[in-house]
Amino acid sequence: SAAPVLTVDGPGGAGKGTVSSLIAERQGWHLLDSGALYRLTAYAAGKHGVDLDDEAGLARVAANLDVAFPVTGGAVQTLLEGQDVSRAIRTEQAGERASRVAAVPAVREALLQRQRDFAKTPGLVADGRDMGTVVFPDAGLKIFLTASAEERARRRHAQLRQAGEDASLASLLQEIQARDARDTQRSVAPLKPADDAVTLDTTRLSIPEVVEQLTELLARRG
Ligand code: C5P
Repeated sequence: SAAPVLTVDGPGGAGKGTVSSLIAERQGWHLLDSGALYRLTAYAAGKHGVDLDDEAGLARVAANLDVAFPVTGGAVQTLLEGQDVSRAIRTEQAGERASRVAAVPAVREALLQRQRDFAKTPGLVADGRDMGTVVFPDAGLKIFLTASAEERARRRHAQLRQAGEDASLASLLQEIQARDARDTQRSVAPLKPADDAVTLDTTRLSIPEVVEQLTELLARRG
């Protein structure tokens, strides 16, 4: 009865988000952007005056998250308590706050079932850091996408410029390295490939090339 699950884990900027949504679209599967849940928890905490050091408060915010991901005109919107926060949760600062919130075990616990509920027929593409290791340990195909920190900083830079935001490449590289360190060194659900994951280094690959390789792997496993 279990729907097929493809997990796509890896550090920020490796292309997980873009690749995951393209594959979900191509397969007609559901998509879980788990990072958005941590970004939303951090944003909701700010909105409700909960300090990022208040672990019990953060867990309560996570457990009570009122979010929706309606699709309008082909684009996915992110609503928090009915308010469109799609852009607000995508800033570098929101990512930084999300990674602090994500280090709190009680927050991760509070979000676990909500994430598992995304696994429905005909299938799920789950994008994050611990999809293959913690949330969907029985997934049929687990991918770990990586790229050099320099390449990931360049990609983030291009993305931000497209969104009309300006950031220096050097500061982005620093932030990426700091976030990598926090994500890989935390005690709960640290960023690492699952034992049975296929690792794909995308430093020299285009998005279509990555999508092609993953689609082939899926077909072979399916
Ligand atoms: O992927 P994204 O940049 O949106 O994730 C924001 C932050 O949320 C990450 O830096 C990471 O700390 C955290 N995260 C996590 N586990 C996930 C997804 C994201 O800890 N499955």
